[in-house]
Amino acid sequence: MLIKEFSLTNFRNYKNLHFTPHEKLNIFLGDNAQGKSNLLEALFVLSLGKSYKAQKEMEIICQKEDFSQIKASIEENFQTKLVNILWTKEKFLIKKLIKLDGNTCRKISLFYGQVKSVMFSIFDLKIITEGPIWRRRFLDFLISQINPIYLKTLIQYYQYLKMKNSLLRSNNNLILIEALNEKLVDLGLIIILKRQEFIKKFTPIFYDYFSLFNKKKILLTYQANLSLNNNLKETYKKKLEKLLEEEIRKKFTLCGPHLDELNFSLDGFPIRLFGSLGEQHLTVLALKFAQAKLLFQETKTWPILILDDCISSLDLNHQKSIGNLILNAGQIFLAFTELPLFINKFSGNYYFIKQGVLSCY
Ligand SMILES: Nc1ncnc2c1ncn2[C@@H]1O[C@H](COP(=O)(O)OP(=O)(O)O)[C@@H](O)[C@H]1O
Ligand SMILES: [Mg+2]
Repeated sequence: MLIKEFSLTNFRNYKNLHFTPHEKLNIFLGDNAQGKSNLLEALFVLSLGKSYKAQKEMEIICQKEDFSQIKASIEENFQTKLVNILWTKEKFLIKKLIKLDGNTCRKISLFYGQVKSVMFSIFDLKIITEGPIWRRRFLDFLISQINPIYLKTLIQYYQYLKMKNSLLRSNNNLILIEALNEKLVDLGLIIILKRQEFIKKFTPIFYDYFSLFNKKKILLTYQANLSLNNNLKETYKKKLEKLLEEEIRKKFTLCGPHLDELNFSLDGFPIRLFGSLGEQHLTVLALKFAQAKLLFQETKTWPILILDDCISSLDLNHQKSIGNLILNAGQIFLAFTELPLFINKFSGNYYFIKQGVLSCY
């Protein structure tokens, strides 16, 4: 997968930007707060259809402007896709229009996964250090880019879950809750089994990458919120029935894939509690490289790799390992404040960013 052309209008601190990326390596250099992360954020919007970090979409529109736009031409297997995303301010609301080859995508699920990419930023350390929602998000994004049906199932599951939780908070209509439980069991099962299947494929790849960085023994385990025995459907149903009283008391659904967890340990100790900052950082980088490799294996094309400040807190040897991995992937976008030594001789496009203006380095 390749970004052939990319342009921004009024995106954060960019008024206008247009560039033709190198098909392999693209490096952005610049001081703090010049727009490196903003540009990488915009590149990743091509996959998510939204910003990975903005709390409200309003934030990405350049201050004092009333619209923002991303346009890109993407190539995959010699076919070109045109992506156009437009945000417009309408009083206090934001209207978003996503077009793929000129056709409006009415549902984000129709757009998601069209442009496959993997991003790393300092934000992603949360996968290790914060609550399980960050780990589920990582896993769900990984599977959704490969399997659109999974994404559809996930969206439906969360819609039914929201309905059930609102019933638990309000009128406890038991007949409706039972009907919703049926739906949750059917959809939840698909999610759990897909997660299990993907983790099985993903872990050996992840371990391989991590072993390039660190000799300690890493372990990743998927901890489903249900015991994964033969009679999964019955177990799931029975557990929901058993928990109903407690759910009514707590006003929340207490069983299902929305409570699944991924555990990471290093030599038997949870990385979240005992890992050094560097080890946590390398764990997340190994996750991201493994995500890219799995996408490559499943789709036969490398996703776009976007790495924002991926070597801060890493020593020189680890920086070199990252350098070797970069050479063995597809199109890459990297941002640094200074050109790292390990990258010196790689051929690609080198850009300098100053106050939202891109120039050749
Ligand atoms: N909506 C916006 N309009 C204008 N400027 C913005 C907007 N959002 C963020 N910025 C500016 O972008 C700059 C940060 O850019 P960033 O890409 O994070 O820098 P870095 O080069 O360090 O990665 C900040 O100065 C911030 O004020
Ligand atoms: Mg930055």
